[in-house]
Amino acid sequence: MVGEESPAADPSQDYSIVARGLLKSFGRLRVLNDLSVRIPRGTTYCLLGPNGSGKTTFIRAVAGLLRLDGGYLSVLGEPVHTVDRVYPRIGYMTQHKALYPDLTLRENMEFYAGLYGIEGGERDERISELLEMVDLADHIDRITGDLSGGMYQRLSLACTLIHDPDLLLLDEPTVGVDPILREAFWRFFDGLAEGGATILITTHLMDEAERCKTVGYMRGGRMLAEGSPEELKRLAGLRPILRLWVKDPRASASSLAAEGLPVEVVGGVLQVRIEDTRRLKEILERVEPSDLRLVEPSLAAAFLRLSEGGSR
Ligand SMILES: Nc1ncnc2c1ncn2[C@@H]1O[C@H](COP(=O)(O)OP(=O)(O)OP(=O)(O)O)[C@@H](O)[C@H]1O
Ligand SMILES: [Mg+2]
Repeated sequence: MVGEESPAADPSQDYSIVARGLLKSFGRLRVLNDLSVRIPRGTTYCLLGPNGSGKTTFIRAVAGLLRLDGGYLSVLGEPVHTVDRVYPRIGYMTQHKALYPDLTLRENMEFYAGLYGIEGGERDERISELLEMVDLADHIDRITGDLSGGMYQRLSLACTLIHDPDLLLLDEPTVGVDPILREAFWRFFDGLAEGGATILITTHLMDEAERCKTVGYMRGGRMLAEGSPEELKRLAGLRPILRLWVKDPRASASSLAAEGLPVEVVGGVLQVRIEDTRRLKEILERVEPSDLRLVEPSLAAAFLRLSEGGSR
């Protein structure tokens, strides 16, 4: 049964989210398929995965908005069926539009503040501070429905943060947000995590995923791989590539291949996959390059590698 197990059965107090073997189907479509994940307090955790892999469904389950078919889930130490006890400590920014289009920015924020019992001077101060943070202070009396896509996202984030939540569930919060503000958001998220908040975020942007402490890669409703961005790249079998500019790339390639090194020549440049950094000196001495560059593997490459050959 969902959430029947006592949270004391595991050290869930150290974790904001503990999920074990979650199951959820919509009709015949199995969307969460034995999903397990633990998210410690005070961290930034990024859920990655192809469209339809179950990320939003998982977040909705964490927010207590979905009846699971099975598995165990606790949120902020509370089994999910009593998640309303910790609801005031959760902030959920949905993937879809959730604000009132006919209200002004101020009114939407006041509505959210009201839901959490934030009133009076404290409320007004918080609204100004947050609108400043998302660079919308000058638009406070505009109608929400008139905002541009990126501005709308920024207002949604401000509303989500109104009650200073301990657990932030952010479903693609930076879609349409320009790069400068995205950077500001991320610095803000890092600050919140340092202050002890837990940030669970989904994105399809790899540079954002790279910024998270842990990345969980979902596919077909289960966790396929999890780790720091660096660990994930290793898991996908990716290593840095050393690009070497040499006089005779083919001859140098043969010489290194004879030593068992993984080499190829791409566009007239010799490339060596660095499996063992202790061999760097030997490589350089052998081919004496006129120039070189070490190219780090990208998380995007790891994501593509992990996606290969599987159904969604
Ligand atoms: N209420 C629902 N009724 C029926 N099917 C649903 C419902 N909610 C989600 N699904 C289906 O469940 C699957 C997973 O959806 P989900 O929104 O969790 O994916 P996602 O990983 O968030 O994808 P994206 O990256 O596109 O946001 C999809 O096939 C979706 O159509
Ligand atoms: Mg989604």
